[in-house]
This record gives sequence, structure tokens and C-alpha cells, in this order.
Amino acid sequence: MTEWYDAGRETVYLNESNNTLAMIDQTKLPYELKTLELKGIKDIWDAIYLLKVRGAPAIGVAAAIGIYVVSLSVNTSDRDEFDRRFKENKEYLNSARPTAVNLSWALNRMDAVLTDNPVLPVPDLLQRLRDEALRIKAEDTEMCLKIGENALSLLKKGSRLLTHCNAGQLATTKYGTATAAMYLGHERGYDLHIYCDETRPLLQGARLTAYELMAAGMDVTLCCDNMVASLMRQGMIDAVLVGCDRVAANGDVANKIGTSVVATVAKRYNVPFYVCGPTSTIDPMTKTGNDIVIEQRPAEEVTEMWYERRMAPEGVKVYNPAFDITDNELITAIITERGIYRAPYDF
Ligand code: MRU
Repeated sequence: MTEWYDAGRETVYLNESNNTLAMIDQTKLPYELKTLELKGIKDIWDAIYLLKVRGAPAIGVAAAIGIYVVSLSVNTSDRDEFDRRFKENKEYLNSARPTAVNLSWALNRMDAVLTDNPVLPVPDLLQRLRDEALRIKAEDTEMCLKIGENALSLLKKGSRLLTHCNAGQLATTKYGTATAAMYLGHERGYDLHIYCDETRPLLQGARLTAYELMAAGMDVTLCCDNMVASLMRQGMIDAVLVGCDRVAANGDVANKIGTSVVATVAKRYNVPFYVCGPTSTIDPMTKTGNDIVIEQRPAEEVTEMWYERRMAPEGVKVYNPAFDITDNELITAIITERGIYRAPYDF
């Protein structure tokens, strides 16, 4: 490992000195802490698809800043032409990943700037787009902080917490969602112990969550995904905190593949299972988890990625969904910046 992450370092931001979308390249962690600066729409699409920037809130912020940066090089003063190109770019970016609603949510907010200002000249419109992108980013930090306060109110000092995937600072602009209470508790002497599972196949738990929480000085233990039941059966976990990519109106939750396994086991052993997310991740237009599109990813992520050598026979069929649905009855509460919601859900 080369460098510890400094919590002051931003996950995703607008570099105003050269008008680029800047982001930590999360595919390089924990070995290399590298910042990318992107301007081209294809590079931005790739960064989202390839998980260089990942985590629902961070994807939303990247898309908002990204479409602003791309709009800067739309070389026209004609509003109709500008709006047409904006919509093309929006549609393209929106196709990068289907499950996290924050992507379309952020792009729709940027699009509303055009709709709300139909006759504004292009240079002024660009200024408004910049302001909106920065507002989306600032709001994300505020929401995470409030989620953290709300989640911490449910935790006791000395709690042993399990988290899945990375719903940390690396997945947001600051604090994370599932990790926000961990950061706040750590600052306030809660003496928390954090277990994170590896999160096969892309190892967001091992590569990202363990890394960022250890960098913050927390007490972290890593386990494989299939060890979670063993930990809970032995009474070693007091609560589970996870993030979310889309919450349906009935409280079903799409989150990283494996989340529903953890939730099912938590229910079996009476461990509270909390989902943490900003209201931007709640999608009232989606009625239940059955209506959520689940992203399917390439087979190589399972058979060879991260291994020195391929670890499965050539030609084997692979099932690799990036997310699963946790049924609402497995969830103890959904914690947002607005408060703590319990079934029946009325967001
Ligand atoms: O595929 P990823 O790494 O983008 O998946 C991330 C997750 O599933 C997170 O738990 C979710 O986006 C919440 S991040 C605050």
C-alpha cells in the first residue's frame, strides 16, 4: 500500500483551475491514491461505468459536475442547440449505470436549470449549471452529516458494527452514509468496533471501507462475506449499517449484491439492520423492489479480476448482478437526513 487516505481529501469535486471533474480513482485503492481530472464525456461515462467513481451519492455528484464540465465545451451561443446537446449528453451519462437513482436524480436537477431558465443566454446558463452542481455536492455533505447524527442516536458506546460494501466517504462527498455514524462516534469517543465484509466480487469492503476507516484511526476487522452468519450467531455484532442505491416507495432497498444475505442473517439472529441513505436515493416513482433495474456486470469480475491467475474454468457461465433487493420486512429502519423511518414506510 502506498499512501494513507487523508479524510480532508475530496472524493469527487470540480477543479476550477482547469474546469475538470476531479475524482479519486477508486479502482487503484488501496495501492495507489491517484486523482483523475476528466473533461470528455466518454471519459466521464467510463469513470462511472468502470467504478473509478462509485457509490450512489458520489455518482450523482460526479454526473452533475460532469455534465457542467462537458457543457463548457459545447461551442454555441444558440440556446436551442445548447439545450439539444445538453439532453444528448444527459442521456448518455445516465446510461452508465442503471441501479443507483442518484445518477438520474442529479442529471434531472441539472436539466431543471435549463427548463427554469428558458431564455437565459448560454454564458449565464453555464454559471447557473456550475452553481447547481456545487449545490448538489454541498447538500450531499450536509445530508451525510445528518444521517450520521440520526444513526448515532440508535447506537450505544462500545457497539460492534458490521457494514457491507463501501457506503463511506469514498462513496459520497464526506462522512459517507452507513459510515457517517462511525466517523461521528469515533470523534466522540464511542469506542466503536467495525467489522467490514470483503464484498465479492469487487471488494469494496476490503479495498475501500477497511482502508478509509483505518485511515481515520478506527478499530476495523475484515471478514469474508460468508463469515457474517458466524459472527452474528456468536453475538459479535450489535447492529448492521449499510447504504443504498435505490429505495422503493414500499421500503424495499437495492444495494450492493450480498446485502440481502446480510439482512436475512441479521433477522435470523435478531441483529438490527439499518439502511442509511439520503432522500435523493428514495425513488417514489418505483413502487417495489421488483421494479428496480439491476445492473449486470462482466463475467471477468468474478472469474479473474484481482486474482493473479484466472480462478474459474474457461467458458464457465457466470451470474454477476451488481445489486440485490432487500425486502422491507428485513429492514429495522431506514435512516435519512430527515429522520428515522420504520415500516410501514411513508417517506
Ligand atoms: O457498485 P458500487 O460500488 O457503486 O455500489 C455501491 C453500493 O452498493 C453502496 O452501498 C451504495 O451506493 C451506497 S453509497 C453511500
